[in-house]
Amino acid sequence: MKLTRLISRLLFATTASALTVDLDDPESISANAALIAQGLMNYYDGHRYGGVVGMFVFPYYWWEAGAAWNSMLDFWYYTGNDTYNDVVKEALLYQVGKNNDYLPVNQSTTEGNDDQGFWGITAMAAAEKNFSNPGKDEPQWLYLAQAVFNTMSARWDTDNCGGGLRWQIYTWNNGYDYKNTVSNGCLFNLAARLYRYTGNDTYLHWAEKAWDWCEKSGLLNKEDHYHIRDGVDVNNCTNITPYVWTYNAGLFIGGSAFLYNATSDEQWATRAKNIWTGCEDLFFQDDKMVEISCQQTRITCNNDQRCFKAIFSRFIGYAALFLPDIRDDIMKKLRASATAALATCSGGSDGHTCSIDWLTGSYSNDWIGLGEQMSALEVLQNNLIFNPKMAPKPTTNENGTTSGGVGPLTHDTGGTSEGSPDAGSSSANPLLMNLDIKGSDKAGAGVITAVLLIGVLGSGWWMLA
Ligand SMILES: *[C@@H]1O[C@H](CO)[C@@H](O)[C@H](O)[C@H]1NC(C)=O
Ligand SMILES: *[C@@H]1O[C@H](CO)[C@@H](O)[C@H](O)[C@H]1NC(C)=O
Ligand SMILES: *[C@@H]1O[C@H](CO)[C@@H](O)[C@H](O)[C@H]1NC(C)=O
Ligand SMILES: *[C@@H]1O[C@H](CO)[C@@H](O)[C@H](O)[C@H]1NC(C)=O
Ligand SMILES: *[C@@H]1O[C@H](CO)[C@@H](O)[C@H](O)[C@H]1NC(C)=O
Ligand SMILES: *[C@@H]1O[C@H](CO)[C@@H](O)[C@H](O)[C@H]1NC(C)=O
Ligand SMILES: *[C@@H]1O[C@H](CO)[C@@H](O)[C@H](O)[C@H]1NC(C)=O
Repeated sequence: MKLTRLISRLLFATTASALTVDLDDPESISANAALIAQGLMNYYDGHRYGGVVGMFVFPYYWWEAGAAWNSMLDFWYYTGNDTYNDVVKEALLYQVGKNNDYLPVNQSTTEGNDDQGFWGITAMAAAEKNFSNPGKDEPQWLYLAQAVFNTMSARWDTDNCGGGLRWQIYTWNNGYDYKNTVSNGCLFNLAARLYRYTGNDTYLHWAEKAWDWCEKSGLLNKEDHYHIRDGVDVNNCTNITPYVWTYNAGLFIGGSAFLYNATSDEQWATRAKNIWTGCEDLFFQDDKMVEISCQQTRITCNNDQRCFKAIFSRFIGYAALFLPDIRDDIMKKLRASATAALATCSGGSDGHTCSIDWLTGSYSNDWIGLGEQMSALEVLQNNLIFNPKMAPKPTTNENGTTSGGVGPLTHDTGGTSEGSPDAGSSSANPLLMNLDIKGSDKAGAGVITAVLLIGVLGSGWWMLA
């Protein structure tokens, strides 16, 4: 053990005791959530010297920032604590990129479809929760979600494996030859929610298309007990990478739950239920959530994987809200997991930093970070899914239409965010579009790509270090 680590353990071993929560008391949940949220924001870099608005400290990637802002937006929605609302709003608007579609040039060396997808999903949540609308001269939440949808769906690739999105957007990034489930799960989830919010059938068709492709490609199917797999090799469409991750299950359960609510079509309830049954086998032990692909006998989760339980918690929360048949099962596990998560929140300089191992409830200095804070925050605050503090009071107008109430809003039930079906750039690959490359000039395009790549790498070499 390193000396510094030993000292910090000795220092905090006697003073720190884990967080404890009364899950029947919303005030107790909110007070604990505020402590965890504060710990999460310790990793925020935007207002520090040399930091960038919207980004968290090294080594957290841009995508995770997008997901973390959803955790923080929900923190306000569930607890009513608006301490960080201005920071969240500023971050979401700073990173929109030149065409207001979450393709900022700074991220060209890392941004994949999944990365863009998570920012789009956060914008969608802002629309559904009537989060403070941007100014008239700024892009609106719904617009941003639509722009992400439009640019992602434009990249749908029928040339390989019969459809699906590749992991990467840009050919020069590692992983361009891989179709990962999470990119397609983001498209599915976003399309489902855009359909519910706007009622535009195009989004429903895309949600169906994304689901169908994942099923046909073998990433998500009945024979496999709906244990959703990581992805498939573009050069060999039967070569499936078998890892199972909570967040993939979450994206599909959540999207299906939204679709059931929007369509009343039992098919979506059944699909969500099937995935949930698959999750019960894999992702819980004694009702406590576990990221099983990297938390077996030894913990091996990387920085990304350490926040997946946050995303899963968020989406099973929606499933509990919209699907009465599995509601009690989900809530039982959200409760047990929240208690278990908070038992790990007993270290660090604040004395209640959270850790990864919810099964044992032990704290370890080796397993703390943005992902651990996000996961503890979301599993806890989703216990407020049926009584969010900021849900508008339901009102019924003269025509009997009800607005507000528990649950994400739509255009017809009080959502005020404005969008446009044509949002975003007209190109799936705006960096190349900006250079005006013609399809007939492939060789030239290759050279320009190389030059552009050198430029991007030259200005951002430190990002790869
Ligand atoms: C709201 O959150 C902030 C930051 O975590 C915290 O300092 C404050 O006490 C919270 N307010 C309430 C009323 O819980
Ligand atoms: C892009 O990177 C530069 C240099 O670090 C920074 O000043 C700028 O704020 C960044 N912009 C975005 C949108 O991240
Ligand atoms: C494609 O992947 C499958 C599964 O990994 C493997 O059995 C098969 O040999 C691969 N085919 C080729 C042509 O590499
Ligand atoms: C109620 O319905 C009438 C007739 O369709 C419509 O003109 C009116 O705007 C509706 N009122 C509200 C508050 O939606
Ligand atoms: C959709 O969800 C809301 C709760 O947000 C609920 O009141 C409503 O009855 C649901 N509709 C359907 C068709 O299940
Ligand atoms: C949404 O926010 C707007 C602007 O703050 C407000 O006027 C409206 O009443 C809110 N809608 C609901 C359903 O609470
Ligand atoms: C529905 O969405 C599609 C795709 O964005 C768009 O082309 C179409 O115009 C939209 N329809 C309406 C009625 O807004």
